[in-house]
Amino acid sequence: MATIAYPLAWTAALALCFALFSAMARYGVGDALDTITVNGKTCSNGICVDQFDHWQTVPMTWKCRDLRDDCTLRAVRGLCQTDSLYTHPHCPVACGVCHNRTREIPFETSAPFSSHPRNRQGLVEVAGSRFGVPQLIPERGSDDRQGVLDRMQDAHEYWEDVVMEEDRYQPVRTLCRNEYELCALWAARGECTNNERFMKKSCPVVCYTCETLHVDALCPFDPNIPNAWQRGDLNRMFKRIVHDPTLAHYQTTVLSRPDYEPNDTVETASYQIGPWVVIIDDFLNETETSTLIALGADQGYERSTDVGEILEDGSYEDDESETRTSTNAWCYNECDDHEVTQIIWERMTFLTQIPPENSESLQMLRYEPGQFYAVHHDYIENDWNRAVGSRILTVFLYLNDVEEGGATNFPELELAVQPKRGRALLWPSVLDQYPHKKDDRTEHEAQVVTKGIKYGANAWFHQRDYQGSTQNGC
Ligand SMILES: *[C@@H]1O[C@H](CO)[C@@H](O)[C@H](O)[C@H]1NC(C)=O
Ligand SMILES: *[C@@H]1O[C@H](CO)[C@@H](O)[C@H](O)[C@H]1NC(C)=O
Ligand SMILES: *[C@@H]1O[C@H](CO)[C@@H](O)[C@H](O)[C@H]1NC(C)=O
Repeated sequence: MATIAYPLAWTAALALCFALFSAMARYGVGDALDTITVNGKTCSNGICVDQFDHWQTVPMTWKCRDLRDDCTLRAVRGLCQTDSLYTHPHCPVACGVCHNRTREIPFETSAPFSSHPRNRQGLVEVAGSRFGVPQLIPERGSDDRQGVLDRMQDAHEYWEDVVMEEDRYQPVRTLCRNEYELCALWAARGECTNNERFMKKSCPVVCYTCETLHVDALCPFDPNIPNAWQRGDLNRMFKRIVHDPTLAHYQTTVLSRPDYEPNDTVETASYQIGPWVVIIDDFLNETETSTLIALGADQGYERSTDVGEILEDGSYEDDESETRTSTNAWCYNECDDHEVTQIIWERMTFLTQIPPENSESLQMLRYEPGQFYAVHHDYIENDWNRAVGSRILTVFLYLNDVEEGGATNFPELELAVQPKRGRALLWPSVLDQYPHKKDDRTEHEAQVVTKGIKYGANAWFHQRDYQGSTQNGC
């Protein structure tokens, strides 16, 4: 760096000299200075000689300021109320909580620092400014001092050797920052585990959790993990469902398929030409349908959400929307472990030949009169190059006969499927020749239920290992 081009650096260097001088003066020249080396930078009494340009700009004491660019937007969207744990500390100005900042931090903040920065013997780790707010180091004699210094050293190594080295961290290099000057102290005191959620968001460097800030870092796409479908596999699966002798006992009806069977013509065919849409009327028996309904009730039906906007961390917002008014319950734990659920998974696996770990858990649905799910597509944009892969296939299970309404309607195909107890409805979300690409024709809606209640269950199969990815927090 050509120093002459950076007048600020000169001023900063002077300030640093002054600070060093005062620190030395306090102990007297010749005193055994408490000197450590952090990744090649010399730190005396906690002052590390590095990155002069940050010295002046660093807030030495807390200033109430918003830490994110989108704070106003977040406040307008109501996140100060709905996600106060994250939003208050990150957007205190926009949320108007500057006056009682201490209440926003969910744990003990008292630290052995004197209040005026110039009198402080606990000093500032300047080098830490590359990954966020420089960290306060407790004064000499404090019990916390060594723990914090060790933590800073480890954080440096983590930053240099992991975050800056490994490709998967590329998406988080600009996101991963310690946002409080006390992060290292909190981490040294065990807050990374005691207040995991807050610390992962606000002090990710000293907690070594940078990868959790973006799904692409947390769940890197591993090209060695195979896709469920290659070109042509979609067609092969549906043809097998329709023709294979081992599946001939099912009462299967083709409503739509890409081409005519040999000898069929437009006049004779009982199906239309288009993407595959198939129903199997006796896929579940009555014990199974009533068991699933009961299991869903045990889990507790809650207002359904849509896949909303993409968030900064690459995940999707849950959108409680006007276009989806049903309630649902995810079939986890006891619901998923139930023997009937397991038998149904085995059956779906045998039917589709897609590994069950590629599917999301069953989503149990309940529609009351007046409820519906407006036209939408199950395909999720961007998932195709993520660890979970695209949603490729939907298996919809109808769990009861609905008195009136509640059909699954495909407007592009002019095809409506009535609910019927035990019926399975299958359709792809992608194209046979491009199994990562959306097939726009299979957009669909759950039409309004006008009488009675509609129960159903969704299995969404992905191109890749969905369950394994989500276990890793993806
Ligand atoms: C600030 O603190 C007061 C009480 O100390 C509390 O009633 C109020 O809700 C707090 N404000 C916010 C926005 O958290
Ligand atoms: C098509 O029809 C011809 C003549 O009726 C018959 O010989 C042939 O077996 C049929 N093919 C198939 C696949 O049904
Ligand atoms: C329904 O399926 C279950 C397995 O899920 C089986 O144990 C039961 O015997 C079946 N009931 C009837 C009436 O076939």
